[in-house]
Amino acid sequence: MVTSMGISAGGGEAGFAKAVPDRALGQLRRTAFSQLFSAAQVERAQAEFDAEARLLAEHLLASSDSASLRSSLRRCVQNMVLRFAFSTRVAHPTEEPPSRLSTDTAPFGTLLELTDAIWSELTATSTFVSDLLGVPADSAVRDRLRNLVSERNALLVELIEARRVAHARGGNGARADAPRNDMLDVLLVSGLPPEDVLFTLVDLFVAGVNTVSTTLEWTLLLGAEFPLEQARARAVATRSVGGGSGGAPTTALSYVDALTNEVLRYKPPLLLPRMAVRDTSVGGFAVPSGHVVFANHWALTRSEAHWRDPTAFRPERWRSADEEAGFGAARGASACKFLPYSIGQRACPGQRLAQAELHAATTALLATVRWRRMAPIDLSEDFGLTLTPAVEQQLRFERVERRAAPRRLL
Ligand code: HEM
Repeated sequence: MVTSMGISAGGGEAGFAKAVPDRALGQLRRTAFSQLFSAAQVERAQAEFDAEARLLAEHLLASSDSASLRSSLRRCVQNMVLRFAFSTRVAHPTEEPPSRLSTDTAPFGTLLELTDAIWSELTATSTFVSDLLGVPADSAVRDRLRNLVSERNALLVELIEARRVAHARGGNGARADAPRNDMLDVLLVSGLPPEDVLFTLVDLFVAGVNTVSTTLEWTLLLGAEFPLEQARARAVATRSVGGGSGGAPTTALSYVDALTNEVLRYKPPLLLPRMAVRDTSVGGFAVPSGHVVFANHWALTRSEAHWRDPTAFRPERWRSADEEAGFGAARGASACKFLPYSIGQRACPGQRLAQAELHAATTALLATVRWRRMAPIDLSEDFGLTLTPAVEQQLRFERVERRAAPRRLL
C-alpha cells in the first residue's frame, strides 16, 4: 500500500485494497467472486457492454482524426462500469441525441470528473517517484488529492443513499423503484458493511477503468501496426456480431480472444508489488519481512525459456496446438508464465468483468470500424502504475461496409 493509493483507498481499512488480508477481506472476495462479478452477473450486463462498445465505434467515426483516442476509450470503459454498477452512462460529446440512459446524469458526470482528476494525481510522475522511494510528497499535492478523494467519497455516499431510499419507498406506501439487479443493488443486499460497499465502488473506478482502457489502447495501436492481424480478427468478429459462433468451434480461442491475449502478453498492463508480512522465501531467495517483491511479468512474457519467438506479436500462438492452445489447462509453474490478472489470494477480482468488457469492445470495434495509422506507430512504453503507451497517438477510422451474405443454394 503506497502512500498516495492509501489516501484514495481509505487508508487500507476497507474494500479490496487492504494491506494485510483478514476475515473481512476474505468475506469481500468471496462476495466478489460469487455475486458481484459472478458469471451470471457479468453475463447479465453483456448486452450493455455491447451497446456501449457500439457507441464508442460511432464516436470514433464521428471524431476520426480529432478526438483524443485515450480519453474516448476511457469514457467508454467508465460508461461500461457505470452501466454495470449504476445502470446509467454519460454521453460522448459527439452523441446527438444522447442515448436513453444518458439523461439526468449530472452527478455521474461529476463522479467521472473526480475519478479522472484523482487518477491524474495518482499517476503523476512526482507522486509515483515519492511513493516508490517512500519520501514525503509536496504537501500541496497531498492536500489536493485528499480534497478530491473526500469529494468523490461524499458523492458516492449520496448516490448509495439515494438508491437505499428508492428501495425503501415501498415501505411508506409509495411505489418502490424496481430493482435493477446492477452491482449497487447486489452490494446493498450483500450484507457487507457500509464502508466495504463504498470502497468496493471506489475500487471499481480506480482498479477497473485504466487497466481495461489501456489494454484497448494497445489493441488499437497494435492493430494499426499489424493490419493483417487486424483483418484476420475482423473476419471472425463480423461473423460473431452477425450471430455466428465467433469462429473457432473447438477449445481453441477465437481469433478475437487470441488477439486480446496476445495484447495482454505483449504489453502486460499491471502487476502490483507485494510486501512480505513475515520472513519468507521466493524461489530459494530469502525475503525478509517488510521487503517488497516485484514480479517482473514484462520480462516473463518475453522469456525465450517460456515462449516461442517471444518478441513477435503473433495472436495465432494462442490457437496453435504446438504452442498455447492448451494454456487454459496448464498447471503448476507453466501456468505462471502468463499472469495478466495475477494468481493467488490477491488475484484480480475483476477478471471476469474485464474479459467481458474487452471482448465486447474489441468485437464491436473490429466489426464496425477499420483503423489505420496516420504516422508511424510508436509502441514505446511509459512505466507507471499501469504500462501505458508513452505517446498519445491519433488513428484514422473508417466504417466497415457489410457485404450482403451470399445466398445459399437450396
Ligand atoms: C485488463 C484489465 C485488468 C487487468 C490486466 C487487471 C490486473 C490486475 C492485477 C495484476 C492485479 C494485482 C493482483 C496481485 O497483486 O496479485 C489486480 C488487482 C485488482 N484488480 Fe484488476 N485487472 C483488470 C481489470 C480489473 C477490473 C475491471 C476490476 C473491477 C473491479 C479490477 C479490480 C481489481 C482489484 C479491486 C484489485 C485488488 C485486489 C487485491 O489487492 O486484493 N481489475 N488486477
